[in-house]
Amino acid sequence: MQGKFITLEGVDGAGKSTHLGWLVEHLRARGRVVVQTREPGGTPLGEKLRELLLHEPMHLETEALLMFAARREHLELVIKPALLRGDWVVCDRFTDASFAYQGGGRGLSVEKLGQLETWVQGNFQPDLTLLFDLPIDIAAQRMAGADRQLDRFEQEKTEFHERVRAAYLARAAEMPTRVRVIDARQSVEQIKKQLEVLLSSV
Ligand code: TYD
Repeated sequence: MQGKFITLEGVDGAGKSTHLGWLVEHLRARGRVVVQTREPGGTPLGEKLRELLLHEPMHLETEALLMFAARREHLELVIKPALLRGDWVVCDRFTDASFAYQGGGRGLSVEKLGQLETWVQGNFQPDLTLLFDLPIDIAAQRMAGADRQLDRFEQEKTEFHERVRAAYLARAAEMPTRVRVIDARQSVEQIKKQLEVLLSSV
């Protein structure tokens, strides 16, 4: 595979969506063909699963299985074909989010998540993961300004989001070369500069 697979992660409110558009434009300006996508979602079936995952109450293992089911479809139909064509793929959340939300947030064991990860993707991992890290009180303030209905995850209490953040940071500590932590308290301009440096090394 010749293209590169870049994922963006972070707690709700950390600002990854703000940076995603810039990042894609930046890569395109450098002549890359970029496929922008997201999880859960990214395929017609995956987007239907997203609707259920974000709004329908369910058992935590059902939630994890549906996340990985959507991911299986996404890898097969979108991500791998794009990488094989030599395109770059920029994905708003991927498997690290399952470890953070279903693992850290909901308490599903790392062993079970690891089994699903191996089943669905083998050794396949993103080339670079940008983890936007932000203290939960600041993230919550940013979310409070959002003028829209909150989904099932966004509605969770502070402790849930604290555990999500900790699980993300644990994942980054485990795989420091792939997962790069960005201090999301910085200004947008400072973050852009940092992203440019990180992207130039992929
Ligand atoms: P998010 O990416 O924050 O989308 P938006 O910016 O439109 O709100 O929403 C996706 C939610 O799904 C987010 O709260 C985290 C959750 N999620 C998981 O719990 N596990 C996963 O594996 C993935 C990919 C997402």
